[in-house]
Amino acid sequence: MTKKGNDKKGKKMEKRTEDSIFTEEFGDKFKIKAENIHKTYLLGTTAVAALRGVDLNVKDQDFVIIMGPSGSGKTTLLNLIGGLDTPTRGKIFLEGQNISTLSDNQLADIRRDKIGYVFQFYNLLPQMTALENIMVPLHFAGKFSRRGKRKRAMDLLAMVGLDERAHHTPSELSGGEQQRVAIARAFSNDPAICVLDEPTGDLDSKTGQMIMNLLRDLNKRGATFVAVTHDAKVAEFGTRTLHMLDGKIVEEGTVNGLKETEMMKKIRQSEAEANKSKCESNIFKYLFKNQGQTEYNISIIRQSIPKPILDNIPLHFNDILQGMIKDGKLPGKIQGQMLIFG
Ligand SMILES: Nc1ncnc2c1ncn2[C@@H]1O[C@H](COP(=O)(O)OP(=O)(O)O)[C@@H](O)[C@H]1O
Ligand SMILES: [Mg+2]
Repeated sequence: MTKKGNDKKGKKMEKRTEDSIFTEEFGDKFKIKAENIHKTYLLGTTAVAALRGVDLNVKDQDFVIIMGPSGSGKTTLLNLIGGLDTPTRGKIFLEGQNISTLSDNQLADIRRDKIGYVFQFYNLLPQMTALENIMVPLHFAGKFSRRGKRKRAMDLLAMVGLDERAHHTPSELSGGEQQRVAIARAFSNDPAICVLDEPTGDLDSKTGQMIMNLLRDLNKRGATFVAVTHDAKVAEFGTRTLHMLDGKIVEEGTVNGLKETEMMKKIRQSEAEANKSKCESNIFKYLFKNQGQTEYNISIIRQSIPKPILDNIPLHFNDILQGMIKDGKLPGKIQGQMLIFG
């Protein structure tokens, strides 16, 4: 855009190849094409280089798994692909459209119309039923009548095998069921691509496998996924695995070819241990600050843990608390969502 001496025509041409939908250069071959992506966060006066030159192509019906130790840039990359943020440098094309230079409003439209999201902690609206949660994005899409919305939401619930729980609120559903509702919601507007950040991170391994089976099923039926995970077992469900380290993709393997290397495994395990101790120390800090109580709401303790730690704890948060009780570090017991002392 900074070329000198362009006549009007020249500028127009340039703009077309940069911003138009389905540019000739990329066609509709790739769902995502990311070129030399950099992302630097500013923390006060310190610059944190979270991504340092990432190239990535995602084809229709790929199931891409992104692995790597905490802090390697997985969530940052996923957020850029998902239009939740823009890169500092480089370009990202979604179905041929350059989304790296869009305004906040334009990105919001892209998110609504083209991308489905699944997060570690489900992010369902607690006061709404499963059905209503799925109807929210359908409402904002503005494409359906009231009855049309209900019908589509019921179909989506049936797709994840939960049509019988349509009128239950999240607190009446298990973690695995809540994640299935979140997956149904992600598909409400028939997205071009669905991004998932640690979709099984809050689930026990059996439930996690069920969720991955469901995703693999949807993938076989045509869905395109990019998922971040810590868990090598989860990676088995994808069609491609990318390994990240220090803001770069360092290795790519198909699932039955290259797996996590020994070096990556060691880093992942030691990071996981470090995050577990950071999580424990934050739990102690919270309890110390709020000492004197006999009952603590676990979800409030969880909120006191910084997100980068919480995002990357190796086990279920409640498992860490349970472990601390078992090891005699906490003189209490867990009842439902409460930690009870004494
Ligand atoms: N909003 C932010 N502000 C400042 N630094 C951030 C922010 N988000 C992430 N980072 C930093 O960027 C790096 C990559 O983080 P992230 O993408 O969350 O990694 P991962 O998901 O692999 O754990 C880390 O050093 C992290 O501390
Ligand atoms: Mg992360």
